[in-house]
Order: sequence, then C-alpha cells, then structure tokens
Amino acid sequence: MFNHPQAFGTVNGEKVLLYTIQNSHIRAEISSFGATIVRLYAHDRNDVLTNVVLGYDDVNRYVMNDSYMGAVIVPNANRTKGASFSISGVKYHMIKNEGKNNLHSDLKTGSSQRIWTVTDLDTKKITLELKQDDLELGFPGNRTFRVTYAVKDSSLIIRYEIKTDAETVFNPTNHAYFNLAGKSSILNHQLKICASQYTPLKKGSIPSDKVKKVAGTPFDFTEYKQIGKDISKPSAQLLLARGYDHNFLIDGYDGTLKLAASLYCPDNGIVMDTYSDDPGIQVYTSNYLENDKYSPHDGICLETQFTPNALNYEAFDKPLVKPGKTVRTTEYRFHTE
Ligand code: BGC
Repeated sequence: MFNHPQAFGTVNGEKVLLYTIQNSHIRAEISSFGATIVRLYAHDRNDVLTNVVLGYDDVNRYVMNDSYMGAVIVPNANRTKGASFSISGVKYHMIKNEGKNNLHSDLKTGSSQRIWTVTDLDTKKITLELKQDDLELGFPGNRTFRVTYAVKDSSLIIRYEIKTDAETVFNPTNHAYFNLAGKSSILNHQLKICASQYTPLKKGSIPSDKVKKVAGTPFDFTEYKQIGKDISKPSAQLLLARGYDHNFLIDGYDGTLKLAASLYCPDNGIVMDTYSDDPGIQVYTSNYLENDKYSPHDGICLETQFTPNALNYEAFDKPLVKPGKTVRTTEYRFHTE
C-alpha cells in the first residue's frame, strides 16, 4: 500500500511533508523537517486513540523553536562544557550556543532545523537521512545519519544510524514532549526511572561528573511516583532547573536494549515504557516551555542518550564511534493498566 504524505507547510520555499506510519495499535506522524514526531497516537484503556505528544499544526511553528519539539538531535545531544572536546589528541570546537557551552549540537544550523530526505517509506516505517560534512557543527568526519521510525505491535521503534569516514561523536536523541493524557499538565503522571543514580547540575546547567544516589532525594523515581510530588520541594537542584532537567544513569547499562523509564497516566491508563541501549536518560519536565499553546510542565521529555559532557569526563563512556556504521536504538512501548 502506498503511503500518501500530507502537506505540512513550506520552509524557505521548500515543501515539508508529513508522513503517517501505523498499525492497528499505534500511529505516528513524522515531519521531514527535523525528522520530527509531530503526533503519536496510542489507545487508552477505553480504546480511545489519544495523541501522546505535544506538537504544532504547521511546520513554521517549528522553525527556530528552541524547545526542539519532537525533533531528532544529531550528532550530539545535551550540554558540552566549553563547546569543545578532543579525539586522539586533536581538539574540536563546537558552536558556543549557550554561553561558553554547547547545547544539542546547535539550534540554528543543527539537525532539528534541516529538511531531511526520505529514503525509504512504507505504511509501517519511514527512514530519513541527513548528511553532515567533515567539521560541520565542529565534528570530524563526513557523516550520513539515518533515522528509521517503525511501528511494531504497540511500539514505536527509533533506529539511529551513522556512517562516518572518521572517528567521531554519535550521541543522538529524540526530543519529543510526552503527555499521555493528550492535554493539560504531566504533573499527575506517574514516573518510574530505572536509575539509582543521577548527575547533579552545576552552575550553567552543565552536569557534574560526581554522580549522586537518588535515594532519599526528590530524584528517587525507582518506584512509580507522581511527577508533581516533589517537584516544588526546596531542593537546590530543582530550583536551578525550575523542575526536573537531569540526567539519570540507567542501572545495569551494558549497551544492550534495557528498560530506562515508564510513564503512566492514571486518568486514561496509558503506560509508555522507554527502552534504550544508551547509558542515560535526560528527564526534562518542560520547565521553560511557554507560548500561546503550551505552559511549563505540559510535557515531559525522556531523552535517551550518553551522559552529558561525557566527551570531557573520564568517569563515563564516551559517545565516540569508529569509521564505518554504528546503530543505536530507542523504543517507546505502549500498553494500558
Ligand atoms: C535540556 C533543557 C532545554 C531543552 C530545550 C533539554 O534537553 O535539557 O535544558 O531547555 O532541552 O532546549
């Protein structure tokens, strides 16, 4: 069956399309601008199809939108101190886009603001491709990134691939804002994170390499907890970020696919389990999301990724890849309770 894309607006005179992939359980609408998840529908406990991500109806709302809504970030998610790193003794300079530091590789010229090329499409999966030249955004290697979104049973599977001709950085993520109720705030959602440790923030929001135990702190989500329960507690860490905007270290990380977090909406019973082969997950409660459509805490990002600033810390696995092909995977699996 042919997959007919819909028009999604125009960016700099170029048409952007919206592609639907679906099965009887879930449906995802993906835009070629930023390889973005625009809508993602799952069934609630009464079989009502519910859109579980925040998004906009026209691609122009995504242009220069610093919330990175639903977009794919490559090559490197999160913050890098001093916007620089070294590989084999050679120093590389990223774009300083947050003071002296780098966030999400770049907004203006980065992957979330580019029209990706669709290279493969059927009713159940789509592959989008983006090329970055040697030293583009400051990273070595002529690189081809491919992101495949596939629906399988009740899962949306994201497969991130890089092909590079030099050793380089590969730390992709997706920046979807989830709201399993499809409306209002996520503070009544319940969250479980498979992490007994997290990386606290330092001034300027660069995470530290001194990991802390979550036990006995507002960061303890080792059992299901309402997101709003501790978010307003007078914790220096929560005040610094205006809520949760922290990286958690997945227990038992070994590079294979593992359950990283589960999100549950008590109102409609939807549960979303996030699986990843990455060492960490950035949990961001949309503390800075504020416009005519959305307010802070309307969504929660569960950004699977390497530990922030790992390129400059000895304590953590670095997201470096050798020339050739490397694949990383994230899965969002849905069911109801
Ligand atoms: C970061 C936040 C930032 C947001 C939007 C998240 O991944 O952790 O600090 O505000 O992205 O840019």
